[in-house]
Formats: sequence, structure tokens, C-alpha cells
Amino acid sequence: MSKINDTYDKTISKSYDCSLNQEIFSVTRSSCLEQIKEIYDKYQPIKTLDLGVGDGQYIEKLSKYYTNIEAHGIDSSSEMLKKALYKESFNGVKGKIEESGKYFKHRYFDLINAHFICCYVGLDEIFKLSDNLLNKDGVISLCTSTHDSWSKIQAHMKNHQGSNNTIRKLLFKYTNYISYNNNQSPRSHEEIVSNAESHDYSMIMCKKCTIRQTLHSVDEALAFFIKGSWGAHSYRLPYWMLQLLTKHAFSDIEFPFTDNHKISICTFKKNREI
Ligand SMILES: C[S@@+](CC[C@H](N)C(=O)[O-])C[C@H]1O[C@@H](n2cnc3c(N)ncnc32)[C@H](O)[C@@H]1O
Repeated sequence: MSKINDTYDKTISKSYDCSLNQEIFSVTRSSCLEQIKEIYDKYQPIKTLDLGVGDGQYIEKLSKYYTNIEAHGIDSSSEMLKKALYKESFNGVKGKIEESGKYFKHRYFDLINAHFICCYVGLDEIFKLSDNLLNKDGVISLCTSTHDSWSKIQAHMKNHQGSNNTIRKLLFKYTNYISYNNNQSPRSHEEIVSNAESHDYSMIMCKKCTIRQTLHSVDEALAFFIKGSWGAHSYRLPYWMLQLLTKHAFSDIEFPFTDNHKISICTFKKNREI
């Protein structure tokens, strides 16, 4: 079992709750659906595959609009998948996104959703595996945070570098290591565009969202940190350590604290005939 899998199974699945981050999730999910509506007529039976389907909230939203949708999903966490499986007629597969080709039919899908998985899988992998899974007219719906997000808190963390306090120094080193070595999220919106081009995909629709997030206390920051929106789960630390980390990161910040979360919501199509 990978560490990410373990973290999702044992920690995040217990508290993963899109409603805590209502604005982020409602804005992004609605924007993804708006883009897809422009491409597919309402009653077309679209065949869709959700990579890293999580608790299946987006599939549920799609299914309400496309009532005859054929919905498939893959996730490596059985605990996350369990949350999605209660939805009727949804084919959820436990497995690694990178191995999707083993579980699903070649060039079968009209739509691939890759929402909030870039930090784990990376753009290159998403574009490559979509080549084998999408049919000739199929599209990718991509939704991701970028490293441009949380500029204020990142600048603040950098100040820890010069601190005399050992915990702060370690905190800086650790977050820096995680953000730049393990997190595969694109650095910026421009990186998404150029990566898509390098795989011969065109961006046919795009929305850049900047969502201001205000936190009123350390406890609120901790909840936000852990329940999926700050990438803290990719730190792969036990809860008590995340708690310590959050407290230190926010110890000399004044509340309410506001920072920006930058999210790109894009739809891509392969350029050449496949
Ligand atoms: C941040 S959640 C996003 C869930 C969902 N797409 C959404 O928009 O709410 C990331 C999901 O991807 C899954 N995941 C991460 N890496 C994976 C991998 N390599 N293969 C399969 N699933 C993975 C996690 O288990 C988790 O359910």
C-alpha cells in the first residue's frame, strides 16, 4: 500500500468533506459541468471515467444532469471509493490511475475527469493515459490548484528559514521538500497550457478562478488544512504532526487570515485524428 493510499484510507476518508470548502468545490464543480454542457447535448449517453474519483461528488452532479450517463471511476483508496459506491449504477474500480489501461476499454470514453489529482499523478501521466482511453472526439476535464496558490502563507513559511527556532526551521525544510519534490501540481496556469500542447492537446475551454479563503482561527486553519483543500494530506504526516505544523505556521499570523487559492478549470481535446 502506498503512503498516499494509506493516508486516504486511514485519515482523509474519515473527514473528507467538500462541504467544508463549499465555495471552492461548488465553484469548480459547476464550472466543470458548464464546460461539458457546451460540448455534449443533455441526452447523449456520455461514457465518462473519473480518475481519482474520491467520494464521487462530481460524478453525482454529472449524473443529475446527464441522467443516462455511463459512469466509471478509479481510486486507489478503498475507503474513499466506498463513499462513491453507494451511487447506483456507478462502476468504481479500486486501482492506480497510472494503471487505468488495465481496467478500462481502449479508447472507450467520451469524457475523462481529472479533478484535484495533479498533485499525485502529474499532467504528463494524465495526458498520456488519456490517449489510450479517450475515443476520437473525447475530451479531458481538468481541474487543479497550482503552486501559485496560497502565496501569502508560502511567503510566510519562507520566513521560517531564517528563524532561530528549530521547529520552525524544520517546518520550512519539510514543507519546501514536500511542495517541490513530491507535489506534482503544475507551477502555474501557463505550465498547464504548455504541457497540454506538448502532448498535442488543445485547450478548448478554460476558466481561471481565484478564490479568497478567510480563516478565523488556528482551529479553522487546521480543519481546512486537513480536510482536503490545502494539500496537507500530501504531507503524509500523522494528525498530531499536522496539528503541530499548522499551529506553528499560524502562530504569528493575525486572524482573520485571508489568502488566495488559484484553480484552473480546463477542457482539452486531442489535436490529431486518433
Ligand atoms: C483530492 S482527492 C480528489 C477527489 C475527487 N476527484 C474530487 O474532485 O473531489 C484525490 C483522490 O485521488 C486518489 N488518488 C491519489 N493518487 C492516486 C493514484 N495514483 N491512483 C488512484 N487514485 C489516487 C485519492 O485516493 C483521492 O480519493
